[in-house]
Amino acid sequence: SSRSRAQWGSRIGFILAAAGSAVGLGNIWKFPYITGNNGGGAFVLVYLVCIALVGLPIMIAELMIGRHTRRDAVGAFISLEGRRSPWQIAGWVSILAAFVILSYYSVVAGWTLDFILRALQGAFTTPLGTNTSQAADHVSTLFQGLIDSGPRQLMWHFIFISLCLGIVIGGVQKGIERWSKILMPILLGLLVLLFVNGMLSDGARQALNFMFRPDFQKLNPGAVLEALGHAFFTLSLGMAAMITYGSYLSRQDSLFGSGLRIALLDTGIALMAGLAIFPIVFSAGMQPGAGPGLVFQTIPVVFSNLPGGNILALLFFLLLAFAALTSAISLLESQVAYLIDERGWGRKQATAFLAILAFVVGIPSALSSNLLGHLTPIADLGVFDSIDLIASNYLLPVSGLLTALYVGWFWSGQEEKEELLAGGSGWIYPTWHFLIRFVAPVAVGVILYSKIEETGLFSFLGSIF
Ligand code: PHE
Ligand code: NA
Repeated sequence: SSRSRAQWGSRIGFILAAAGSAVGLGNIWKFPYITGNNGGGAFVLVYLVCIALVGLPIMIAELMIGRHTRRDAVGAFISLEGRRSPWQIAGWVSILAAFVILSYYSVVAGWTLDFILRALQGAFTTPLGTNTSQAADHVSTLFQGLIDSGPRQLMWHFIFISLCLGIVIGGVQKGIERWSKILMPILLGLLVLLFVNGMLSDGARQALNFMFRPDFQKLNPGAVLEALGHAFFTLSLGMAAMITYGSYLSRQDSLFGSGLRIALLDTGIALMAGLAIFPIVFSAGMQPGAGPGLVFQTIPVVFSNLPGGNILALLFFLLLAFAALTSAISLLESQVAYLIDERGWGRKQATAFLAILAFVVGIPSALSSNLLGHLTPIADLGVFDSIDLIASNYLLPVSGLLTALYVGWFWSGQEEKEELLAGGSGWIYPTWHFLIRFVAPVAVGVILYSKIEETGLFSFLGSIF
């Protein structure tokens, strides 16, 4: 192309931006609670295997597609095929996923902003003589108050989307890369503090046992599928993000080395988040399997019972907010890149348009719990849940499966080898190619099949035809 295209300013800038995309609510909110729900150690082990054998190969494939074509996720497939082709569907589905996910991701991210404000107001300071059940009542009142207030959730949703807009509008180097270089080190610092705090607490040993001593009796096929699905979500795969970020990557960088670093950072941070959270949950005598409410309900209760807990709460919700922000900008950028590359829009208009759209589409998610008025808010969020279900259960696996099949079976092995060789990781080609050709499609195909079966789509289609 004759247009000069954006590129990362440095390798570390790219790694931090891509790790910023990967490290998000999935690591700090979701990983600990699904580990809790699935009984700990054995689940963690299966998850690590899924990251290594399925997640990492697909991440390398997405970065490779991006770097080779230097286009957005839809344009990348046009460029690979040399013409419009059905493979573009893979790109479309992934951009659609980014769009849908951003709209509700922003609502949850908004909750973290609300809790930051609460912490600044000292809401998690122990009043003298409070016990755990009083603290629990107090926190659930706070949280319920937020969930019940449509305007309050909308305000935070708006503020969060505006922050994303403010960063993405600055472009690849001056927006995304610059902010990733600021936010990611702070995020790591906050996490290390909370991790050390957890390791020094009474529950440290119990937490380590819980997370690392596998009890395979607790493992069922459902847990394996959940581990695989989460490996996908946590590495930001199937959502156009890694294709887009890869498209700004220089030919000098090693695809394997970069992918490995991103996956290691993501995994390390998820494990550290578990080791920051579970020890204090155990010391407080609470249950690890609290579900999605773990970080917004259990954790604040625990904090408000600790000396200095309000500060820990503040640090914790800042950590969550930063993690969410660096992920959300990759979702926005993936859509922006499409409008710029394929539709010839300017960055400013594209970013503003898509941010407004994400805000509007997120409104039902922000209001759903309010409208339904559930007493146990996160257990059943209505619109919110359904959107999450559609996106993570169907859109991601569909685009992941198509991508793996394309790269494994249809793209020229010669070009793939050259891409790997360009950054000095040609030696990985046979292993990677085997995984992307056989292991990844089978694994992702199984997730997709089981989700379709589980949600009754087959019988639904059967009743139509
Ligand atoms: N990887 C992010 C997380 O773990 C989620 C995400 C997916 C963000 C795709 C951006 C793109 O929270
Ligand atoms: Na992640």
